[in-house]
Amino acid sequence: MDLNLQGKTALVSASTSGIGYAIASQLLEDGATVIVNGRSAATVQHAAAALGERFGAGRVLPLVADMSVAGSELAAAAAYPQVDILVNNMGSYALSDFFSTSDADWQAMFETNVWSGVRLARTYMKGMLERGRGRVIFISSEVALTPMAAMAHYSASKATQLSISRSLAELTKGSAVTVNSVLPGPTETESLKGFIESVNPGLAYADAERKFMQENRPSSLIYRLAKPAEVANVVAFLASERAAVINGAAIRAEGGTVQTIA
Ligand SMILES: NC(=O)c1ccc[n+]([C@@H]2O[C@H](COP(=O)([O-])OP(=O)(O)OC[C@H]3O[C@@H](n4cnc5c(N)ncnc54)[C@H](OP(=O)(O)O)[C@@H]3O)[C@@H](O)[C@H]2O)c1
Repeated sequence: MDLNLQGKTALVSASTSGIGYAIASQLLEDGATVIVNGRSAATVQHAAAALGERFGAGRVLPLVADMSVAGSELAAAAAYPQVDILVNNMGSYALSDFFSTSDADWQAMFETNVWSGVRLARTYMKGMLERGRGRVIFISSEVALTPMAAMAHYSASKATQLSISRSLAELTKGSAVTVNSVLPGPTETESLKGFIESVNPGLAYADAERKFMQENRPSSLIYRLAKPAEVANVVAFLASERAAVINGAAIRAEGGTVQTIA
């Protein structure tokens, strides 16, 4: 399917590796120019060079900024005043016992997972509404719908993203701007693979992944981790004109783990 993103500029937060990198790569594949973001010049340069080699250096734009820090959105806007597609991908997770999770832990989780997206949407969505077209996509998580005690702050941050996403969609009435969320399930990023390995020392990775699915995601229908590129396909579709009628939606890309009909 040709998604025809030529002429569009996309900003993907946290895109030097993981799901964000796969999204950047897919949007480039579909013709967009992509702003690649990470915290350090070295990681951004490394990712931009790899993507530039495949898709042309002129279509890969660097943004070195810690998006969990207030003001980073202003630095982004100073460098790149206008984007057509904003993917609020940045997010971190942590297992944390509720009773020893401090205010600071909760606040850091919300700065990273919620405030980064709020600030970037506030910065870029007005221009989209003025131009009458654009895309804002929040990368949430299945745990927004299936909150976990072992990561209450992460679950809450991901559920909050769904609310913000739907609220912002209400601002788009009558325009060709859409705001949606994508809810991945466990996805085969280096960080998740590292986590699975760390809790199963000595086990071969394939066996450790199988054990992870059995113990942690028994209701999964795909019964494996998703590939970052599989999540990126969904995001690229939402970013395209082909998805013009999908607005204000929370799209599950979690392999059927959440046992619901809607
Ligand atoms: N992986 C999963 O299983 C899974 C499941 C459901 C939902 N999700 C969601 O999907 C999104 C991406 O997850 P992921 O697993 O791909 O994450 P990840 O692998 O931990 O992300 C790594 C990327 O995040 C960047 N990054 C981290 N902190 C940053 C900051 N403060 N400012 C800018 N960039 C920052 C890193 O860049 P530098 O190192 O260059 O700074 C790197 O590009 C998150 O919102 C996550 O909640 C993931």
